[in-house]
Amino acid sequence: MIQFEQVEKKYPDGTHAVQELNLTIDKGEFFVLIGPSGCGKTTTLKMINRLIPISGGTVRIDGKKISEFDIHELRWNIGYVLQQIALFPHMTIAENIAVVPEMRGWSAEKINHRVDELLDMVGLEPSIYRSRKPSELSGGQQQRIGVIRALAADPDIILMDEPFSALDPISREKLQDDLLSLQRQIQKTIVFVTHDMKEAVKLGDRLCLMKDGRIVQTGTPEDILQHPANAFVESFIGVHQEKEHTRVKEVVRAYPANESAGGRIGGDATVAQAMQLLAQTEALTVYENGKPIGIVTRQTMIQFLAGEVTA
Ligand SMILES: Nc1ncnc2c1ncn2[C@@H]1O[C@H](COP(=O)(O)OP(=O)(O)OP(=O)(O)O)[C@@H](O)[C@H]1O
Ligand SMILES: [Mg+2]
Repeated sequence: MIQFEQVEKKYPDGTHAVQELNLTIDKGEFFVLIGPSGCGKTTTLKMINRLIPISGGTVRIDGKKISEFDIHELRWNIGYVLQQIALFPHMTIAENIAVVPEMRGWSAEKINHRVDELLDMVGLEPSIYRSRKPSELSGGQQQRIGVIRALAADPDIILMDEPFSALDPISREKLQDDLLSLQRQIQKTIVFVTHDMKEAVKLGDRLCLMKDGRIVQTGTPEDILQHPANAFVESFIGVHQEKEHTRVKEVVRAYPANESAGGRIGGDATVAQAMQLLAQTEALTVYENGKPIGIVTRQTMIQFLAGEVTA
């Protein structure tokens, strides 16, 4: 559990980057910080692992103040994925992944096993990728290495600062899907920064919307989409809000899919209701007057919400 109490960050030049931050992030939660550029997301993230010192208030991890942790113990127990792909170019993929386990003094055997396990987890064949250099991987593959490197020493907390923003939309969606299925297995506490509402809604158990260094609203994606706290939130999620109310049958008509479906929903249900069900299953069969009229996949809904498909 990560707790912020009245946390404040004032940079030496007087910039008040974060103010009166009160927040509790639960263990195992996928928590998304979202807001416009300069609102304080990166600052908030970096205060958790003490990459940026706090000016006021307290941050606690499992009840203990972060200032009381040994700095190495703190950093090793917190994985960090940067926005820019930041692999060491002269080192192989295996060496890149092994950085923290080596600092922690793991045996070579244990490290080797861990590297293979992590590469397998993200669908990169160890015998091929272990010995490559970062420049011999695509951008999406490099970013996948960035994610598993943060997981390497099995930290309890993972901080991710816009990890997918440099990627093309297809790699980005693939990595989001990978991360979601990975999180189902590992159940870490993830703090994920983005300025993309579509990404936030797809990934987050809860979202925290920030503006000018302050929290504007915290809640589940459904809470925020259905009950935006003020005009700023409304405008930030505007596109989604409008589309959330569209009937599922309209989406099906606009974009029929023919894969097998895991759940079912009435055609008059809203997109917001369908999204809730799609958090648990990949696809829904849509019924009207007791008859199936089509199938809607999670992918379709996300494309629809992003404006790539219109009803
Ligand atoms: N080292 C610094 N010195 C002074 N001001 C800074 C420093 N780093 C960040 N800031 C300022 O603090 C505020 C918050 O910055 P931060 O990087 O946390 O924003 P952000 O929400 O991550 O933005 P982005 O989406 O663009 O990454 C901004 O006004 C920024 O200019
Ligand atoms: Mg930032």
